[in-house]
Amino acid sequence: MGIYLDNSATTKPYQEVVDSMVKSLTEDYENPSAAHRMGMKIEKNIKEIRRNIAKTLGAKEKEIIFTSGGTECNNSIIRSCANLNKQRGKHIISTSIEHPSVLNTLEDLEKDGFEVTYLPVNSEGKICVEDLEKNLREDTILVSVMFVNNEVGSIQPIKEIGNLLKNRKNKVFFHVDAVQGYGKVDFRPSRYNIDFMSVSAHKIHGPKGIGFMYIKDGINFKPLMTGGGQESNLRSGTENVPGIYGIGAAISKLFLDLNGSIEKMNSLKNLLKEEISKNIDGIKVNSPKDGVCHILNVSFEDVRGEVLLHYLEQKEVYVSTGSACSSKKKGSHVLNAMGLTPDEIEGAIRFSLSDMNTEEEIVKAVEILKDSVEDLRKIIRIRR
Ligand SMILES: Cc1ncc(COP(=O)(O)O)c(C=O)c1O
Repeated sequence: MGIYLDNSATTKPYQEVVDSMVKSLTEDYENPSAAHRMGMKIEKNIKEIRRNIAKTLGAKEKEIIFTSGGTECNNSIIRSCANLNKQRGKHIISTSIEHPSVLNTLEDLEKDGFEVTYLPVNSEGKICVEDLEKNLREDTILVSVMFVNNEVGSIQPIKEIGNLLKNRKNKVFFHVDAVQGYGKVDFRPSRYNIDFMSVSAHKIHGPKGIGFMYIKDGINFKPLMTGGGQESNLRSGTENVPGIYGIGAAISKLFLDLNGSIEKMNSLKNLLKEEISKNIDGIKVNSPKDGVCHILNVSFEDVRGEVLLHYLEQKEVYVSTGSACSSKKKGSHVLNAMGLTPDEIEGAIRFSLSDMNTEEEIVKAVEILKDSVEDLRKIIRIRR
């Protein structure tokens, strides 16, 4: 299978996740809305999973709403906020380094007359809270900031932003895209004054096509999906029971020792950084020192990231040049916003780890990386 270092794109499901999903498809396949005993059993199991998820966040059960994943959460939350508050104001603040599921939703709202301020980031990929404060207006209705950036791993000052918004005269809703933060940083949305949050299961060893929104109790919400009234009328559609069983199993395993998992990823990331710095010259680490535990972004001089990615792939080392969603497009909007030069952007590789990786894999991957970079530089330098 090789060495998989592309865990920000997606993670390998835990075996427990696969087992629970097989059970759901072979034994627990009834509709949880059915009035009979079998359906009610599934409903009860979903309730328990929801309770377990809520516990990981110090939240209430009813604050957790299952969706099809991060993209749906971001769309639903931002569009709901815009729709319900447009009489009060049409100004939204976000950042220039959000995931496309936020950026493209905001762009869509701009076509409908909303005004969006995209905060810049510094060379570490972080926004400045004072900058946010300066941009708040009477008609600002929503602030949407990602917890952890998916390309470089910078962690945004979510607690400080929450504190700032708490004291506003006019309510400003606070949405956090926590797709790369949940399961990588231990936090409680209520302590950070978060109103809405987006989470996806496939980034934490769960299945694809399932995630959840955190919607703070008491906040009005206009569902994107209307229909049979599932999920307390907030997200209609027959429940994705295999997905819910899968996310439930993933969370049960991960949160048994969340700090242990975070520590392991941090030490693997440090080893990776040290090995690269020690063995390969002409590199630039783009991730901040205090970045998240699982992402390391590095630029290699005189190498095109895309070519290196495919060179490594032949040797069964799997990495990425940016986010999976944007990797086919030109350039990285995140590295660009951080002020990297075009050559640095072109030479960037994102390594992303999971607690399934080992030290041996990291050492081996860097050996292969070193040879690959040397080979590619030889070719490039001969051509010059
Ligand atoms: C920060 C961030 N937000 C949202 C998403 C979208 O999540 P999903 O793949 O579940 O739609 C991703 C996925 O890469 C992400 O990294």
